[in-house]
Amino acid sequence: MRKRVLSGVKPSGEQAHIGNYFGAMRQFVELQETHENFIFVADYHALTTIHDGEALRQYTLEIATEHLAVGLDPEKTVLFRQSDVPEVAELAWVLGCVTPHGLLERAHAFKDARAKGLEVNAGLFNYPVLMAADILIYKSHLVPVGQDQKQHIEITRDIAEKFNRTFGKVFIVPQALISEETGVILGLDGRKMSKSYGNTIMLFEPEESIYKKVMRIVTDSTPLGHPLNPDKCTVFAFHRLFNPEGLEELRQRYLEGSIGYAEAKKWLFEKMMEKLRPLRERWAELRRQPEYVEQVLREGGEKARAVARETMREVRQAVGVGGLR
Ligand code: TYM
Repeated sequence: MRKRVLSGVKPSGEQAHIGNYFGAMRQFVELQETHENFIFVADYHALTTIHDGEALRQYTLEIATEHLAVGLDPEKTVLFRQSDVPEVAELAWVLGCVTPHGLLERAHAFKDARAKGLEVNAGLFNYPVLMAADILIYKSHLVPVGQDQKQHIEITRDIAEKFNRTFGKVFIVPQALISEETGVILGLDGRKMSKSYGNTIMLFEPEESIYKKVMRIVTDSTPLGHPLNPDKCTVFAFHRLFNPEGLEELRQRYLEGSIGYAEAKKWLFEKMMEKLRPLRERWAELRRQPEYVEQVLREGGEKARAVARETMREVRQAVGVGGLR
């Protein structure tokens, strides 16, 4: 039996960026060949911050389109919308009742929001519980994510173990799958690439805009003709992703001082466009077919829901809510 993989992405309104791609999406595409793949758009999670119904529905469709464009195949992956399986919200309630408050108080996202003095709604506080429900309801074995989601998977494991100890074994305790090389992709300023830092390059933004961003990648001020340190250079880090075939040559030229940052950036831009072109072409095509994307989500939702219903039958029985069946 194939192991089940599950992962989610939040429809934030911004397009997927290179961090999302190398940290997560590319793994999804590889895993669909060997695993049973469940990938969803986390629209309930987005509700913690987006309070505009029309916009959220649109963002959800856009991010699903982007996942198809990078190579998810609906024949091999169950691609769905989180809210098409409302059972997950029911499970989140049940799991919340075995989740210690202190565990959620230690969650990074909550602590960061509070430290910044942002308004924290109860949804944001409970975010990790809903995430646990996402993962556990499909009895997933593996959760491919970027490093920033690691703590959420650890919380999920704690909740699953606590539930199983309390009510008997219903859930599989899942494992995070985080790539050593691509678990944290850096942004233009050398910090983790993140929408909240404004340091992203998006997969499908216009070519001129990508060019400008590449030329803006922050470097030190070593003058032309002097050796550069490849291991402390964000431009070089991007080359690792887009130009593995040229990496040794580039490393040599860095060490010899025979390349400057401007030339390294131009080379990077060319490689980026070369590697992204097929994805971008598919994206442009899929954007003209929103009904198709909607249909993929609907069909995926039906498949996912069948699994979730079965788990909820077991959960209800174990915890003692609902009549016996
Ligand atoms: P989200 O939408 O913020 O990010 C989607 C995926 O992209 C990864 N990622 C990165 N990886 C490497 N380097 C980066 N700079 C980078 N930035 C983002 C994230 O780690 C993630 O894998 N809470 C989740 C969505 C979610 C989920 C789930 C994921 C909801 N339920 C259940 C897994 C399982 C989120 O907001 O991801």
